[in-house]
Amino acid sequence: MVALSIALLASLVALACAGPAPRNLVLHESRDGVPEGFVKSSTASPDTTLKLRIALVQGDMASLEKALYDVSVPSSPLYGQHLSKQEVEEYVKPTQESVDAVNQWLSSEGITANTISPAGDWLQFSVPVSKANEMFDADFSVFTHTESGQQAIRTLSYSIPKELVGHLDLVHPTITFPNPYSHLPVVSSPAPRNLTIDASVPSSCGSTITPTCLQDLYGIPTTAATQSSNKLAVSGFIDQYANKADLKSFLTKYRTDISSATTFTLETIDGGENPQDGSDAGVEANLDTQYTVGIATGVPTYFISVGDNYQDGDLEGFLDIVNYLLSMDQPQQVLTTSYGQNENTMSRSLANNLCNAYMQLGARGTSILFASGDGGVSGSQSGSCGSKFVPTFPSGCPYLTSVGATTGINPEVAASFSSGGFSNYWGVPSYQQSVVSSYISGLGSTNKGKYNSSGRGFPDVSAQGENVEIVVDGSTEGVDGTSCASPIFASIVSLLNDELIAAGKSPLGFLNPFLYSDGASAFNDITSGDNPGCNTNGFSAKSGWDPVTGLGTPNYAKLRTAVGL
Ligand SMILES: *[C@@H]1O[C@H](CO)[C@@H](O)[C@H](O)[C@H]1NC(C)=O
Ligand SMILES: *[C@@H]1O[C@H](CO)[C@@H](O)[C@H](O)[C@H]1NC(C)=O
Repeated sequence: MVALSIALLASLVALACAGPAPRNLVLHESRDGVPEGFVKSSTASPDTTLKLRIALVQGDMASLEKALYDVSVPSSPLYGQHLSKQEVEEYVKPTQESVDAVNQWLSSEGITANTISPAGDWLQFSVPVSKANEMFDADFSVFTHTESGQQAIRTLSYSIPKELVGHLDLVHPTITFPNPYSHLPVVSSPAPRNLTIDASVPSSCGSTITPTCLQDLYGIPTTAATQSSNKLAVSGFIDQYANKADLKSFLTKYRTDISSATTFTLETIDGGENPQDGSDAGVEANLDTQYTVGIATGVPTYFISVGDNYQDGDLEGFLDIVNYLLSMDQPQQVLTTSYGQNENTMSRSLANNLCNAYMQLGARGTSILFASGDGGVSGSQSGSCGSKFVPTFPSGCPYLTSVGATTGINPEVAASFSSGGFSNYWGVPSYQQSVVSSYISGLGSTNKGKYNSSGRGFPDVSAQGENVEIVVDGSTEGVDGTSCASPIFASIVSLLNDELIAAGKSPLGFLNPFLYSDGASAFNDITSGDNPGCNTNGFSAKSGWDPVTGLGTPNYAKLRTAVGL
């Protein structure tokens, strides 16, 4: 019975294949071989279902970029006048011609796609591997990441119909591979240190960082925020769950001045969840919620748990969380994310599309913070480099704020794992041109040829990232990573936003044009330490901006003045 129907099917397929005239496919994207760490383990079974996404060429991103800077540059007359959902969508939406061309082609293939972004620039559909191979002249195969065992179905190249060139931007997942090590904080075993302690900071802060240490060190207010419309969002990926009982223990121990019942609101997308068994508690998710709820006192905080309905890495989640926020009339004004990967693992077009998503969210008035990575100049995790340093994604995207890490109290110095450097995908944005060029001229021949001297420099700012105390499954432990620094910095932005909103002003939105102008003198300049990797000492922290600690760590009182409070 089964054999018979397969034979019948085979003859039908043979007939169908003989039918249509050969299509005119042109190579659209390809990569030079299998990425480091992966091997091709087998061909993909023809019946395996692939969830594919198509990005249409977006409308007028150059004008959206201009609009973003108009509302983000403090000296601009439009500063703070963030765009509405409809205004952003008007810029982003693909032309009707592109929509029609792609949909007509999909329907000729018997496919109906769903639109998955508010502006209509992303479509999604499911097809068997055999169909995907035929539609895109691809060779979808199973690739295995040797060290982690993670498997993914990818192709090293794909083509699209000639008539769709200029309408179809990219297909995913195709040539961009998943990241088996989306960076996570590392549990630290604090080395005994003899630090000279600043008189205003408790001496225990020399060995372990708690909310009190950060409040004292950066002058962060302990009084509760007052504005319920001011919201802070925390990204959760790769089955990292935020535990509420641990948050309660954390607050009981470290925030005796506030109610230990203070908590976050859960939001879920893509089938995300947040199970509360102690053993489900994730180090990253607990860190990120404890250092937002525990620092951004009184700011309504949202943990957005992104499930894995559509992902085998976190890149689909990166896109989905932004599209989720973009679909709201009033998205959260701050988003912090402590995940990332090496820029070179992604296709330029996918990286660019995700970066454009941050442009959209920034234009809506959301400040976007990302941990810069934990591998110094060797990428998101320490590893081998080849002959060049490895910038991280999405820190190289100019429309978000990348946060590096520091350690120590007096002096506060760069944490050696703090990823930083220069993007190969995005050029230097105007807001940082002068500080980047002075840093590079100060380098002389140091690291010459290992970094891209015309790339966007990162991180933009930094905050404490070593021996940060958290509670996980009932136990207190210290963790290290730029993962600590991003939620800390995000909390400070949220507290500033609370005061701005209370004063009848706009929230800060896309921060960088402010940070590098009026804000530049509101940071503690970090001038020692470096971020070694790739058999070099990496870059050194220096007076002014540097690609280890950015502009430095926040001084709340000075930031308050700089934002006009
Ligand atoms: C710390 O200071 C003590 C007393 O001055 C000294 O004996 C010890 O060697 C120092 N430890 C380190 C790690 O420098
Ligand atoms: C260096 O950065 C520029 C600006 O983003 C880019 O156009 C160029 O391709 C990069 N060079 C390399 C070798 O990646």
